[in-house]
Amino acid sequence: MQASKKDAALLFVCGQCGFASRKWLGRCPDCGAWDSLSEQRKPAALRPGRVPASAQPLATADEEECLRLVTGIAEMDRVLGGGIVPGSLVLIGGDPGIGKSTLILQLLASLAAKDLQVLYVTGEESMRQIRMRANRLKIGNEAIFLSTENCVEAMIDLAGTMRPALLAVDSIQTVYSEEVGSAPGSVTQVRESTARLLALAKSSHLPILLVGHVTKDGAIAGPRVLEHMVDTVLYFEGDRGQVFRILRTVKNRFGSTNEIGVFEMQESGLAGVDNPSALFLAERPVNVPGSVVLPSVEGTRPILVEVQALVSRSSLGTARRTAIGADPQRLALLTAVLEKKLGVTLFDHDIFLNVAGGIRIVEPALDLGVVAALLSSFFEKPIDPATVVCGEIGLAGEVRAVGQMEMRLREAGRLGFSTFFMPESSARHLRGKKQEGMRLVPVRTVAELAEHLF
Ligand code: TYD
Ligand code: MG
Repeated sequence: MQASKKDAALLFVCGQCGFASRKWLGRCPDCGAWDSLSEQRKPAALRPGRVPASAQPLATADEEECLRLVTGIAEMDRVLGGGIVPGSLVLIGGDPGIGKSTLILQLLASLAAKDLQVLYVTGEESMRQIRMRANRLKIGNEAIFLSTENCVEAMIDLAGTMRPALLAVDSIQTVYSEEVGSAPGSVTQVRESTARLLALAKSSHLPILLVGHVTKDGAIAGPRVLEHMVDTVLYFEGDRGQVFRILRTVKNRFGSTNEIGVFEMQESGLAGVDNPSALFLAERPVNVPGSVVLPSVEGTRPILVEVQALVSRSSLGTARRTAIGADPQRLALLTAVLEKKLGVTLFDHDIFLNVAGGIRIVEPALDLGVVAALLSSFFEKPIDPATVVCGEIGLAGEVRAVGQMEMRLREAGRLGFSTFFMPESSARHLRGKKQEGMRLVPVRTVAELAEHLF
């Protein structure tokens, strides 16, 4: 017995294991059962049925882009990808005292200035403290409403009655749910409270800003799951001794990550910085060994930063290695590359690395800057102040290409730099393009860099 061509819809299926064959077989080759295959008709091809209202074609799905709530704080809008998406939950993390509450209050004031009613719920500070901060920031808008409610259920009721344009909760660690037994600030409370606020945001299209404290090791206190629950995670960072503050996107369901906003903490609050490069280079020492400028790209924005290194003979048994604003692991790796490839003896030298201005650079393009600064300090030879360097370094001491070179070149040119040390492939790529009056110096290895620099 055999299925003929016109019987293509026929199928023989094993009653024991479900094995299917186009031919009848006496014994199932899969499970070995005898005489278990029987004739079945193939199911008819699926025909499209009725589309229920809960599903909709992708092409006509709501484009929330156009509905974004523009905060009016340019650096904040940039980081969010053009404003806050309705119904989204945004978490802002940062060290205590970095300026989170200041940022929130200024943001609320900016929205209130557009005649939007906003609600600020704070469990951290008293009404009086907020009032004092508002006075300092010269904020007196009547459309900002304050509450010191800590209970999430009451908060949801309040928001439901008021229907504000935005709800800000400062901080999520002070919020508790009546339906959870554990203490406020505990992992369960933080998670449950966030889940309830998430439900509120999604069901009522209310955008919610949550402030979250950061623990010593840099994670937002409370469960990691908090970061998975929210739509957007922003970190507000900086050195408290410095005036610069960086707002960095760590996660964004509605925009790019790695975008940064730059602020300056002034007497009268946070001011956005349009031209961060000029600011970060303002106090740069010229003709001093151990300093070099790097055109970094954060998100869509080029920023020139100064990389400083201090290499000095160690008086300790184990030499110290310190990196501020850069990855210490990366510093260790680059130090090893220099020892191996250039034969410079660094094991008995203390090394301090600093990215000036309190900014943190995570991109590998920093490598060439680190190496240049280390060599400059080690040999006590200053680098020409009109020079910038940029490139990744591999374990063999090779200089590797990094992205967005044209943007880096433009920014360096704009700020008056005239020599650019870069990976050879980038230089090749840029040749024939507009070079902003810049001399491009291709470097293939760290040895070549050392040779060209000094
Ligand atoms: P704050 O917003 O309270 O920080 P956070 O909520 O992250 O804990 O900001 C605290 C710091 O900011 C405080 O040390 C004082 C400083 N600050 C200014 O320098 N200028 C200002 O206008 C304000 C309001 C605060
Ligand atoms: Mg605060």
